[in-house]
Amino acid sequence: MKRLRESWEKSQTKSDKGDVHSYLEVYDLLFAKFAQEKVSLLEIGVFNGGSLAMFKDFFQPGSEIHGIENQAVNAALNGVAVFFGNAYTDEMLSVLGEYDILIDDGSHTVQDVEFFVTWYLDKVKPGGLLIVEDIQPEINQENLLKLVPEEYRKSAFFVDCKQSKGRYDDMLFVIHKAVK
Ligand SMILES: C[S@@+](CC[C@H](N)C(=O)[O-])C[C@H]1O[C@@H](n2cnc3c(N)ncnc32)[C@H](O)[C@@H]1O
Repeated sequence: MKRLRESWEKSQTKSDKGDVHSYLEVYDLLFAKFAQEKVSLLEIGVFNGGSLAMFKDFFQPGSEIHGIENQAVNAALNGVAVFFGNAYTDEMLSVLGEYDILIDDGSHTVQDVEFFVTWYLDKVKPGGLLIVEDIQPEINQENLLKLVPEEYRKSAFFVDCKQSKGRYDDMLFVIHKAVK
């Protein structure tokens, strides 16, 4: 089985998901059911394009890999599309379709994470995943869970990777939008 770390190694610009953070092996597990399919993935926060290049390499050819970014980026974005603007606005939401996997690696502020969990879940296809990276210490986890509609709360969980590298914000929040 292909591993996300192999794709991370290959990309010229390296996402911090594989060194500063410890998410790649967690993503291997979370993405297992998508690895053999064409998927649609949208990530907030492009920076140097490392993660989008990694996802483009990892998922099957023909997958749709999209990003959102509000700053000028110096990235080789081969085969990926980027929406330019503030991700945490109604304007951005209004131009987006639906995705199998949605990742928030943008501002990481409490307000924006709450916006993402509240409004972007509608953009996740049934059976898909909504993931928030780098959960900051000031984020109240119980409050975040309360924002998840009751029907999906049982399949919402935190993945604490902090012990891996001693990194204070090495934590994911995941909602699996289970098929009803
Ligand atoms: C941690 S970097 C992303 C790293 C990238 N996902 C990776 O793994 O290689 C965060 C990015 O989010 C962008 N960002 C911050 N706030 C944003 C917003 N409100 N809308 C869109 N992008 C934003 C920043 O400009 C920055 O490029």
